[in-house]
Order: sequence, then structure tokens, then C-alpha cells
Amino acid sequence: MIKISRKAIYILMLSGCMAAGNRTFAQQDNTNKKVEALLARMTLDEKIGQLNQYNGDWEATGPVTKDVGNKIEEIKQGRVGAVLNIMGTTHTRTFQEAAMQSRLKIPLLFGQDVIHGYHISFPIPLAEASSWDMGAIERAERIAATEASASGINWTFAPMVDIARDPRWGRVMEGAGEDPYLGSLIAAARVKGFQGTGLGSTDAVMACAKHFAAYGAAIGGRDYNSVDMSPRTLWEIYLPPFKAALDAGVSTFMNSFNDLNGTPATGNSYLQRDILKGKWGFKGFVVSDWGSIGEMINHGYAKDNYQAAQEAIKAGSDMDMESRSYINNLAKLVADKKVPVSLIDDAVRRILTKKFELGLFDDPYRFINPEREKTSLNRPENVDDARDMARKSIVLLKNENQLLPLSRSLKTIALIGPLAKAEKELKGFWSLDVDKGQGIVSLMEGMQNQAGQTKFLYAKGCSITDTSRDGFADAIAAAKKADVVVMAMGEAPDMTGEAKSKSNIHLPGIQEELIKEIKATGKPVVVLLMAGRPMIFNWTADHVPAILYTWWLGSQGGNAMADVLYGDYNPSGKLPITFPRSEGQIPIYYNHYNTGRPARNDNDLFYTSAYIDLPNSPQYAFGYGLSYTTFDYKSMEIGKFNPSAKSDKIIPVSFMIQNTGKYAGEEVVQLYLSDMVSQPLRPIKELKDFRKILLQPGQIKRIAFNIKPDELSFYNDKLERIIQPGTFEVMIGSASNDIRLQKTFELTE
Ligand code: BGC
Repeated sequence: MIKISRKAIYILMLSGCMAAGNRTFAQQDNTNKKVEALLARMTLDEKIGQLNQYNGDWEATGPVTKDVGNKIEEIKQGRVGAVLNIMGTTHTRTFQEAAMQSRLKIPLLFGQDVIHGYHISFPIPLAEASSWDMGAIERAERIAATEASASGINWTFAPMVDIARDPRWGRVMEGAGEDPYLGSLIAAARVKGFQGTGLGSTDAVMACAKHFAAYGAAIGGRDYNSVDMSPRTLWEIYLPPFKAALDAGVSTFMNSFNDLNGTPATGNSYLQRDILKGKWGFKGFVVSDWGSIGEMINHGYAKDNYQAAQEAIKAGSDMDMESRSYINNLAKLVADKKVPVSLIDDAVRRILTKKFELGLFDDPYRFINPEREKTSLNRPENVDDARDMARKSIVLLKNENQLLPLSRSLKTIALIGPLAKAEKELKGFWSLDVDKGQGIVSLMEGMQNQAGQTKFLYAKGCSITDTSRDGFADAIAAAKKADVVVMAMGEAPDMTGEAKSKSNIHLPGIQEELIKEIKATGKPVVVLLMAGRPMIFNWTADHVPAILYTWWLGSQGGNAMADVLYGDYNPSGKLPITFPRSEGQIPIYYNHYNTGRPARNDNDLFYTSAYIDLPNSPQYAFGYGLSYTTFDYKSMEIGKFNPSAKSDKIIPVSFMIQNTGKYAGEEVVQLYLSDMVSQPLRPIKELKDFRKILLQPGQIKRIAFNIKPDELSFYNDKLERIIQPGTFEVMIGSASNDIRLQKTFELTE
């Protein structure tokens, strides 16, 4: 066994710290001077105005404050620093012109939830995460930013980087799944995509890492609920994607609706002051979530808006989204000596700095250019990228007897199910209606585009939630006449997203009964499942020969599904989140601790930590996903530790992989690590690296990884980052539950 010295690794860890940000010192110094000069000219009311954000007249995601007043008038008075839900150059110009009539002419920020595409709808974020393709994800956000910034938007409330281990929570669709490592890479890719070469270029929008923090761990998976979490879990699992977003230069953070261990995140100094602005040195600003400052009254944390404003500003919430607690109370709080002006100045400085960096003081209309808006939206090359992202997001769950890909010479295909002709549903939740539903390709259309002479027989069969079986007979008749049946089943798009938690995440309605009846015809059946979360569909998983999980794929969804069904694209997606067999297993995730009585296999029912009525294992594990081809893993080696190497080259691990099937295909090879004896405990395995590799049939490649110092370290009970000597196991596999190669090394003192 290879032995490695812990001391040498520590030295390299310390030298491995990196600097972030792409602004030079001189640029920053110059901006700081401008900010200070402006701040010196501002009245207290004007300062407070900068901390105030209003919703426009678009759709709202929270209760809109009744007393809306005259927003344009308030903007002219300098009482508003930012708005949200105002899109398009005409609309944003009206608001910016009002800001230009204020005494100091401080431009407005235009914020928008650009979550998965702006005009061109991309797959939902959880779907994109299934691609494990950082380049493609960054590109998707680049396109979204190019479109949004041409439409007056200069700030997106994305990426959502909340870790989610509970598929009942409707907002799982908006993040990157359950894993802190994958989640961190995706967080960084998304920030880079949105911010491009940096604030200041006209196609860069400010990104916003949200929701700080631990929002995804809502008890019972119920949105907005409390979070009760150990400090180690917070630091090991929930914070890393936020830190990754920060290291990638994210401009803003949004706090969250939940309380964390009894303190609402919005009023939480530990999160916002100690960690974010203190230990991590974040220089951007924090916006509250919608109304979350005022909601501290409902939490029972503040007795009124006056106290809520005081708690929030003290805790480091810089901008108030829609609760009006700041605009209505901060001046009095200062007069009453409850809040020092220095706290307000700090928040204003942060906001003004971003406005300067965006170039808004040079030209407040630089994102408001109707010509650019016309030429930037819906560009054909970007539509192609959306299609490519969509096919990369599809996960092949099952393919018995190589039923897929389908042959183009099939005479008849029966296309059955409530989503077979779905168009705007394919966009899923959190999509903007900018495209007004135009240009969305349904599965039916996508298949017909590509099928050649095949005849399609369509039957809806049933609806998503209704229990009527009236359509079954037609569907069965169509199936009987076909060579192959393709079924498009799933949730409704508004069953996931904000405030869309569910206690029952089974495939809704009587859809699984329809699948049973169609299967009983004896015809080969392919089921496509569309949803924003992992669903439960055990009968289908056990009996249907071919299953594709397609999530919500956006406007190019139909073309992408057809590409995969016909084999023009060999599926390569891997699940970024565990699929349970039953809601009773939730929360369920791969990187758990061992117990004192671990279940070794699914039949271990007694004296082990197990259920007596179902296996511990999930239906589909984190990292799982098939290809039309097969891969053979062999010849793993752990190289000699090289202390003189740079910090990113510590423990070399390599192995060979060969494409043993007949199709070219991509495999996501995954490296997991386990610290076998540890105090305190560490998870049974943790993803530490992966690579997505394209191999031609028969092609063989040696893949090399380097285990880095930080990957051996972890937080102890005092939240110190430590490395303990002992045995580590390195596992290489195709999924978290499909480890093909493993070896150990010893870390000595
Ligand atoms: C959501 C945020 C979103 C905001 C603005 C809130 O309800 O939690 O994620 O950015 O609304 O739409």
C-alpha cells in the first residue's frame, strides 16, 4: 500500500490558496474613490433608497405589499435602488428614465429570475446538472445572460446553489442536486456563464448565489420550513457551493426564508457577517429574499417591521426585496440610535460599487438598446446549444435487450401519454414567458421531424392527475397496431418550483396503471418521464424495458428526446440526486455515515439499520445513468506521492477505460474517496472528482486523476479543517453504487 505523509500535504494545502476576482487593484481603487465621493453627497434618505427594491408590475412570487403607491414617483425621489420583474428595453427604459430624474441620478438595477434561459428556454437546472458537463452549463448561462442583458436586465437571481437531499421539496428542480462537490463546480460554472468576462461588458449580468443558507434542508421537504442542522453538516455539505460561487466572483448573494437552528437567515449575523462578509471576505451585497425581512415578524423573531429592519441590517442584509421594512423604518432607527449610519453606509457602498462595476454610471441605458434586443434573442446558433444541452441532460435509466435506440425503419410507433404533445410544459417552472410559447418543440414534433417513413399513432391515454380511464381503450388499440410504443408521462410543470412541495412524489394520477395496460399488450415499451424532481415509479422501473428520465428540457426538448430515441445522440447523463423507492426513505443521499449496525445488503433486516418493509438502497443512486454502449474499467494504479509537485498534483490515481460496445459514447467516470477510520465520522464515500470522456467503439484510454490535499481534509467538531492520518480508500466507478475499481493508501504522520 502507498504511504503518504500528512505533514507534507498540510504544507501544500496552505500554499494552495488562490485569489479571486478579475479586477485589477487600480480599477478597484478607482471605483472605491467614486463610491466614496458619491456617498459623501448622499442624504440619509437617499442612502436608504439604495437599499430598497420593489417588484415591478410583472408576476410576483410572494405576497405583494398592499400599499404599492406610485413607484415611478418614488424612483424620481431617489427612494428605490433596484427593481425586479421588469423586462424588455421599452419597459426598463421607462423606469431608468425616472431614476435619471432623481437628484443624484443613481441608476437602477434590474433584477430578474433568469433561472434556465431567458428567451430560449434551457433545461431546468437540475436537468442540466445531469449532464455533468461544466462547459455546456457555463455556455447555457452565457446565452441566457446575452439575451437577458440585451433586454434591459443587469442582474439575475441565479444560480440557486442550495443542496437538496429531499425530492419532496419542489425547489430541487432549481439547483444542482445533492452533492457538495458537483454542486460547487456547477455553481462556479453558472456564475462564470452569467458574468462572462466580468461586470462591465454589456453582455454580463450580475449573478446571485442563493439562498444563503441551508434553504434546501427544510424539515419535511416543506418549502419555507425551519432548518435544524449540525454545524458540521452546514460546513461540509451546504456551504461549499456558496463558497465556490464566491470564489468564481459572484457579485451578490440572496439570503433565505428559513430559520437556521432558530435564527431566520435574514437576521442571521453568523451566516452573513461572520461567515460571508467576515471569514470569506465577500465584497458584494446581500439582497433579502422576497419579503423575508418583514417575514421575521411571522417567524416570531421580530415584533414589528421596525425591529425586523434593525435585525436585518445588523445581520448584514444589505437590500430589502419588497418588504418595505428598510424604507419605512431605517431613518427612524438611525434617529433613535438603534442603527449606526456606518451600517447603512456599508450596505450602500456595496450596492453602489456594483452599479459602478456594471458601468451604469457611464451609461445607465447600456443594457437598454432596442437594436441589440432585436438581434440577440433566439439566435439560431443558441437554439442549437439549447438542443445540445437538452440531450446532455437526459438520463437513460434502463435499456433491456437494447430496445433503444429505435430504428428509423420502424413502420408504426404509438405515441401515448399526457405529455406526448406537450409544448410549453417542457419549459418547466421558473421560466419566463418571453417567447410566448413560440418555437417549443414537442416530443411528437421532434420524432416526426426525424422519423422518415414511420407512421405515428397518437393517443393521450389519460391526463396527468385525473383518474378517468376513458382514454385507455384508444391507447391500447394504438399500442396493438404499433411496432414500438413510446410513452410520455410525468408531472405537471407546476408541481415543482417554489412553494411546490409534495408529500407524495409518485408518478401522479393513474399514469402507472396506463403503463401496466400498455405493457400487457406485449409490445416493446419505452417510457419517457418528465418532471422537475425524482419521482417514484417502482412498477415501471421493474417491468418496463426502456426508461429515459427527461426532466423538463426547455424549448428544444422534443428534438433532444428524438435525438436520443433514434441514437443520434448516445445518452450520457448521470443522476445528480438519489431516486428513492418510497417517500419513507427520505431524506436519502449517497454520502451518509455508516452506523454501528450497517446493512450490508438489501436483505439484511435484523439487527441492522434498515427498514423491515423495504430495502435501504434507492431505486436509482446518485451518479447513475446508462449509455447505449458499455464501458470496461481496469488496471487501477495509485502512483507515488510527490511532495515536490504543485499543490494540484498530490496523489496520482489512474486506470484504463474501454468502450466495449458498438456505439461511440461518453462516460462520466467518478472518483469517490473514503476516510476509513475517522474522528469525527466521515461519509461512507464522497465524490471528489470526475471526468466525462468520449470513446469510440473499442477505444481504450488511460485516465489520470490527482487527489488534492483539500480533498483529504474535513471539518472537525470545532470546525477546524483537519487531515487525519489513516487509511483512505479510492473508488472509481460509473455511479455511486457501481464502483468498478478500488484501492487504498495510507496517510502517515
Ligand atoms: C424566491 C427567490 C426569487 C425571488 C424573486 C422568491 O420568492 O425565493 O428565489 O429570486 O422570489 O422572484
